Amino acid sequence: MLRMEGIRKVFPGVVALDGVDFDLRAGEVHVLLGENGAGKSTLIKILSGVYRADGGRVLQNGRPVRVAGAEAAEKLGIAAIHQEFNLVPHLSIAENLFLGRQPRRYGLLDRKKMEADAAVLLQRVGVDAPPRTPVRELGIAGRQMVEIAKALSLRARVLIMDEPTAVLTAEEVNRLFAIVRKLRSEGVGIVFITHHLEEIPQIGDRVTVLRDGRSVGQVPASAPEDELVQQMVGRSIEQQYPRDTGRVTPSAQPLLRVTGLRRAGVFHDIHFEVRAGEVVGVAGLVGAGRTEVARAVFGADPYDAGTVEVLGKRLPGHNVSAALASGLGLVPEDRKGQGLVLGSSIQENLGLVTLRKATRGGLVDRAAQKRDAGRIAERMAVRMAGLDQHVGTLSGGNQQKVVIGKWLLAQSRVLILDEPTRGIDVGAKVEIYQLINELTASGHAVLMISSDLPEVLGMSDRVLVMSQGRIAGELTAREATQDAVMALAVGTSAHGANEMEDSPRGH
Ligand SMILES: Nc1ncnc2c1ncn2[C@@H]1O[C@H](COP(=O)(O)OP(=O)(O)OP(=O)(O)O)[C@@H](O)[C@H]1O
Ligand SMILES: [Mg+2]
Repeated sequence: MLRMEGIRKVFPGVVALDGVDFDLRAGEVHVLLGENGAGKSTLIKILSGVYRADGGRVLQNGRPVRVAGAEAAEKLGIAAIHQEFNLVPHLSIAENLFLGRQPRRYGLLDRKKMEADAAVLLQRVGVDAPPRTPVRELGIAGRQMVEIAKALSLRARVLIMDEPTAVLTAEEVNRLFAIVRKLRSEGVGIVFITHHLEEIPQIGDRVTVLRDGRSVGQVPASAPEDELVQQMVGRSIEQQYPRDTGRVTPSAQPLLRVTGLRRAGVFHDIHFEVRAGEVVGVAGLVGAGRTEVARAVFGADPYDAGTVEVLGKRLPGHNVSAALASGLGLVPEDRKGQGLVLGSSIQENLGLVTLRKATRGGLVDRAAQKRDAGRIAERMAVRMAGLDQHVGTLSGGNQQKVVIGKWLLAQSRVLILDEPTRGIDVGAKVEIYQLINELTASGHAVLMISSDLPEVLGMSDRVLVMSQGRIAGELTAREATQDAVMALAVGTSAHGANEMEDSPRGH
């Protein structure tokens, strides 16, 4: 029903799309696969009227159409959920859902109807926050679900989803897939972008692979994962998790020690250590309090009781500069809000934390800064026009690479990573894992929060499982299996008895 032919798009210094063909049938889920920067988001932005193509054409039911702007796309029955969130943080969920098309009565905004309609949509996607909640109070997964609800409310015939599952946990992904399957059975054509290859056979029908702005082929969604990887990165990947876990000697010095950390209603009884050379994984469901603990440890948020020590020295609470000075680093979950300066160059962003170290005689050693930035950008295969490209114009995954690169360059003794490889392609992930290995091999410690269970299991020497604001259990690399982690996370295991006093804030 929809065809794109010979699509071309050029940005300063980059040919993002170089003659791409793509077609979508009614009632199918067509997966768009490709490395970070391959051109996936650019292609769907052309289809949804965000960008104008420099060449090629779009046909709907055999007729050429012009998708000039979001409104034109809506008229053609095309709705898109973009990789970057388009929600307005200070407005309520209901206002965001109906932005620009609020129901009116006698010319006045019908708030009651709007909130009732919003409640129905929210129930459909399983968000239990009231429609009046300001969007800024939602976690990142909650915001994604609101974006999805918004797209559903448009009743589109073509639904484009750009990495909708990147920020969701297994349970939410299942709920999303149920919605997608229902829409497919109703004849909606769905374009689905993901870096989670295991999702492809579960939800997809066909896969189109993009590489460097060209379509390199089409494969059925049931193709083996190796074949998808081979198509996507042009080579096979031997070892996705290059770590020999559980090798750290237990006597190694604890670099980070957290005792009795508590914040009323959010988390409590948080005790753990991370030793030199160790990667400690933190698993749990969304809302279990993992990000909240990480932010409190780093001093970004306050806590009510407990202590945080780095290298045996106690940190003052709620003080990020003290944390940084002690050698603690945090790669935040919300990279757009907290991790990057979008209007600055790649080089400047990579140098943000290292700046102090790169000074020589009070002056910034620009040459050294540039060398380091160039080296890390090359290792992580950041797809860019040059080091002076603004970070805001990089593809989603390449932005994430810059956030990680910045902290890997900073060489913090203790690095807390919150969902580090979110949105990163399979090839670049391995490179990040190698860099984590190099850090720990040289005596650094890493605390890694991740909702990607294979990643937690493949890269952690020990795994802490959080559930409802507390640490429900700790597993060694050998004990940590998918089942063991999930049992603790949902609180069905023997250790997971419900001795909960403070109920955590829902997300
Ligand atoms: N507004 C822009 N200005 C300049 N360059 C851009 C802009 N948008 C995209 N690009 C460039 O176009 C290329 C393709 O980017 P795109 O966002 O389509 O990649 P992607 O396949 O979606 O990657 P990811 O998996 O990381 O999201 C990249 O090199 C990117 O830097
Ligand atoms: Mg993208």
